[in-house]
Amino acid sequence: MQNALPRLEAPEDLGRFSIAMDERLRPAARAALAPVAVPVSSEATHAWVRPDAVRALSPLAGEPEWESGFAKMIAYAASHGWLGDDGGIRAHIDYVEPRASVSPDDFRNAMRKFASGICIVACGEGDNRRGMTVSAFTSVSAEPPMVLVCLNSSSSSHQALTSAESYSVNILGGSQKDLAHVFAGVGGLRGADRFDDSEWRQDPHGAPVLVTAHQSLVCTQVSAHRAGTHTVLIGQVVATGAAQDTSALVNYDGAIKPTAPASTTMH
Ligand SMILES: Cc1cc2nc3c(=O)[nH]c(=O)nc-3n(C[C@H](O)[C@H](O)[C@H](O)COP(=O)(O)O)c2cc1C
Repeated sequence: MQNALPRLEAPEDLGRFSIAMDERLRPAARAALAPVAVPVSSEATHAWVRPDAVRALSPLAGEPEWESGFAKMIAYAASHGWLGDDGGIRAHIDYVEPRASVSPDDFRNAMRKFASGICIVACGEGDNRRGMTVSAFTSVSAEPPMVLVCLNSSSSSHQALTSAESYSVNILGGSQKDLAHVFAGVGGLRGADRFDDSEWRQDPHGAPVLVTAHQSLVCTQVSAHRAGTHTVLIGQVVATGAAQDTSALVNYDGAIKPTAPASTTMH
């Protein structure tokens, strides 16, 4: 754990178990550890880590191989007296120097030079529909077909999208800049008010789909990983919608523009 948000590194490696914590958090170790563990003593050199917290952070939890490895690890810890009265697993805390990184502004300026498409990610039904504009979208795997989107945890749709069983990713066409703005919160529309019923249909998997999208993909959630300010949401593609429009919308250097019309189709 290096930032305030705990994360699990190398979840498949059950032979090593320790906490890495940002040196700057040492004075507030108890509060920083609270989501996952309790310090063993006031020196906070060790902590009792809750097994349910480890399970919640591991994308491999639930897989038989990982579960049996985890059970063996707990049994091993018990045999060495490393289990607390309430089931916590004793772990050493390594205090580490914070990683050097560029400023958020330098980072944003660098990322502006990466041209990307623009999508609306949407979930829910009726008044419970939620959606937001996203350019952090990419293909992950072809077999099985999987994609990812990165969603800011401070956005009003984050909770709904990361807990939805199914959701749609609607790639916007060249004429849909206004829609990109609506779903980015420009103009102040929130929640289901962002959805114009004449443009959305409900997919049988339970996700709203933008019928006028350049292309839409319906996904079911595979996993969600917290990373800094965002959640990386990985989904398996269970349906695709026919392509509309002849150009895509692109986010480049702070501007949203249509591409030139597609002139050839490559397969
Ligand atoms: C072109 C564009 C691309 C965006 N890409 C992302 C993104 O990849 N991830 C993200 O979390 N927010 C992204 N945003 C910002 C969200 O759309 C915006 O913060 C959100 O919809 C507003 O949050 P609200 O739902 O709380 O109003 C983007 C906005 C625009 C205009």
